[in-house]
Amino acid sequence: MVTKIQLNDSEDISYKEAGIYENTKFEKIHNVIFKNSDYASVIIAREIATLIREKQAKDQNCVLGLATGSSPIKVYAELVRLHKEENLSFANVVVFNLDEYYPMDKTNVQSYHYFMHEHLLDHVDILPENIHIPDGTISSEELYQYFIDYELKINAAGGLDFQLLGIGRTGHIGFNEPGSHPNSGTRIITLNYLTRSDAAQAFFGIANVPKRAITMGVGTIKKARRIVIMALGHKKAEIVKKTIEGNITSDIPASYLQEHKNTTFVLDQEAAGELTRIKTPWLVESCIWSEKTKSKSIAWLSQKLQKPILKLTDKDYNDNGMSGLLAEKGSAYDLNISMFNKLQSTITGWPGGKPNADDANRPERNTPHKKRVLILSPHPDDDVISMGGTFLRLIEQGHEVHVAYQTSGNIAVSDAEAIKYAEVVKNMMLRNAGCIDIDKIISDLKKKKENTAIDSIDVRALKGLIRRVESLGATRSLGLPDTNVNFLDLPFYETGTAKKKPYGKQDVAILTKLIREIKPHQIYAAGDLADPHGTHKVCLDILFHVIEDIMKEEFMIDCWVWLYRGAWHEWDIHDIEMAVPLSPDEVEKKRKAIFFHQSQKDNVMFQGDDAREFWVRAEERNKDTAIKYHQLGLTDYAGIEAFKRYYF
Ligand code: F6R
Repeated sequence: MVTKIQLNDSEDISYKEAGIYENTKFEKIHNVIFKNSDYASVIIAREIATLIREKQAKDQNCVLGLATGSSPIKVYAELVRLHKEENLSFANVVVFNLDEYYPMDKTNVQSYHYFMHEHLLDHVDILPENIHIPDGTISSEELYQYFIDYELKINAAGGLDFQLLGIGRTGHIGFNEPGSHPNSGTRIITLNYLTRSDAAQAFFGIANVPKRAITMGVGTIKKARRIVIMALGHKKAEIVKKTIEGNITSDIPASYLQEHKNTTFVLDQEAAGELTRIKTPWLVESCIWSEKTKSKSIAWLSQKLQKPILKLTDKDYNDNGMSGLLAEKGSAYDLNISMFNKLQSTITGWPGGKPNADDANRPERNTPHKKRVLILSPHPDDDVISMGGTFLRLIEQGHEVHVAYQTSGNIAVSDAEAIKYAEVVKNMMLRNAGCIDIDKIISDLKKKKENTAIDSIDVRALKGLIRRVESLGATRSLGLPDTNVNFLDLPFYETGTAKKKPYGKQDVAILTKLIREIKPHQIYAAGDLADPHGTHKVCLDILFHVIEDIMKEEFMIDCWVWLYRGAWHEWDIHDIEMAVPLSPDEVEKKRKAIFFHQSQKDNVMFQGDDAREFWVRAEERNKDTAIKYHQLGLTDYAGIEAFKRYYF
């Protein structure tokens, strides 16, 4: 279910009005920050549609340079919708795609050829002869001529009217990796390791990601008359800041766009998070000191100066762009005390509320003493990785805890791991005459080119079962009865590939039913708001959808939702509303619970660019939060799990 953003036809769709645009002395590329990626995508699609129609009216072709990747998916979805529902014709559109892996067959599901047809080209009335996507099957001898011809074809079409771009974490545009020349043309390049590791999930492991690609050059791209570049999600925040605020450098090819005078950088709030005017607005101009900005700035000041909050002086505030805050809110002394108290009151060893204690300044209510708690875990190990210590406390403090694993997590089990279990089952069956065709499963797995093809339904079921038994091992180790463990196997996930379907009615119905049955006082959920397309975000969107549907029901009025972060990053200090400290003993128990997820331990399929095992990431993250609290002048704990409340 893709959110459909409705804009009035009369609405002016200029980026300036749709998003937040404020040029500052630091910013060298026009950029617009949108409240979410859906909205941004609709605005971009509208710009493209307007251009296509303008050209149609003049009986001209509209030449589009297009990108693949996760960023433009919703732009294409909106263009398809405009075609189907609002008569937008692509008959005058000529497309040149940026890039393709090399070598790469067109029928391969990982090819950009496949991607473009799946997301856009098969659903609109574009003429086949107007589609140009670099061909990953060209022989190496023919490549050179092929590149020249690609450039000539763009020129012959009249040049690019509009170029849509994403940005890689290396700063690449197209596949122009660091080191690319500003005048480069279409050519073959070697992919950067970080780029390959970002693509690893789609290819079932980095080893399967091609090492080379064909790409339009920076020079080809810069000749476009209009460029829109998109960045979504927190993972892009750092490179976005460097591209927009840094110097032009071949280390960050996207920075060449500073020289292109008709470029707009479209950002969501997370991707904009490192821009100076967002991260530290007080350094840019006089700012409005909301409660959030106040907390954010004081935590920043204390971290920057490595001074506990209570030791910050008027001079510290004045020297760091915060004199306006002093003028508005009083002295450093008052500001320090109020921030210190605020942070202090986030800390609680009683995540379900402390019975018989004054709860005025505690994160949770003290009544009812025994709460019904529902922990939602997108994958079967997110619960223990992200909140294993809090999970344990909730059980030990007598709450009725239920856990629900939203997806089967089956695609993250390697074939080698699955064969191991299948052979265990086979040996059991040899002893007790069984009826499933385990030999077929084993031969399917052995025939498969390691972790590349789509698993059969039976193999998926086996891999899902492996994750189930691992979860049960973990929840039993925390003392949770099996009856309180729910496996939802949400259908959106069951594609057998890393790419998931959009969520639908069935996913919503399954979660609604569970929440109505349990009637929880607390729901814990993975709050990876910033992850634009991953499983965590879809699971969260499903929860938000359910909440929207049932928020008026009586039990929901008494239900609080707490968001934890996944394995990759933590809430910023000023966002944390509940901080649950872990004792060394709890750290140990949490680690043991994570160990039960053996299929995710040594041979992790979706490692990303962080080589640490999940238990190490979790421990280091919890320790890091504890150190931050301590450095701000609060008590020294072994670890802290952090939560932010979602208000509805
Ligand atoms: C894709 C392309 C790449 C991507 C970039 C961002 O055709 O040329 O430059 O735009 O890697 O990818 P996503 O959008 O997946 O983050």
